[in-house]
Amino acid sequence: MPPLLIDLHCHLLPGIDDGAKDLDMTMTMLRKEQEDGVDAVVFTPHFYYERMSLEDFAANRAKAYRQTAGACRKSGLQVAALLGAEVFFTPALPTLDLSVLAFAGTRYLLIELPTTYHPAGIEDVLYAIQQQGYTPILAHVERYPYVTEEPTLLYNWVSSGAIAQINSSGLIRGGHTAKLLNKYIQWNLVHLLCSDAHNMHTRQPNLRQAHEALPEASSLRFKQNGEAVFWGRPLIPEEPVQPRYRFGQWV
Ligand SMILES: [Fe+2]
Repeated sequence: MPPLLIDLHCHLLPGIDDGAKDLDMTMTMLRKEQEDGVDAVVFTPHFYYERMSLEDFAANRAKAYRQTAGACRKSGLQVAALLGAEVFFTPALPTLDLSVLAFAGTRYLLIELPTTYHPAGIEDVLYAIQQQGYTPILAHVERYPYVTEEPTLLYNWVSSGAIAQINSSGLIRGGHTAKLLNKYIQWNLVHLLCSDAHNMHTRQPNLRQAHEALPEASSLRFKQNGEAVFWGRPLIPEEPVQPRYRFGQWV
């Protein structure tokens, strides 16, 4: 049986973050996922430790999920879904109840790093999380300038057991980001491909299009990895290759 196509990072729940702003938009986005052949999704609203308590976040998310499930039932739209979160990096992460933030029923935790600065202590936090039995998934690793300038950082994190996710849009747009992403793929430094959809105009569900831009073997690998994470199975990554800086570029 071919592996399922699963979107493990998207902002489809209504009115909870900067994603779908109401239930209508949620349903439109879910329908687009379905048209694209997406078999299952993980809802990953943003969680910012500094802005909201874990309890309030969980309550808001549960409410948005109930509304979504109700609307799906009413309209006959069937989609398999799990609750999760996109957790903004904080040194306090290991002190939180990670079972609330991990993808439901799994030990996978989606973590977003800041784009504007390279926070100190990332390695310590990732280590502490892993000591608790959780596998960190680093969200859209193509978006951090300090990583694209120094991909050995990503190599070190992945070598230490973190999983890395990339967004569909970079592959679809082509150009510089697609070139970089293809290098990451070559180096076995990225494992999951997701839409990170926020709306229907600038950041729409587009997972199928990204898979179509990939060689079949890479597409298959991303799907297999996605399925492992969704079912909470261990993901067996390929051996990462250390990027080397030669004649002004990373090879
Ligand atoms: Fe996101």
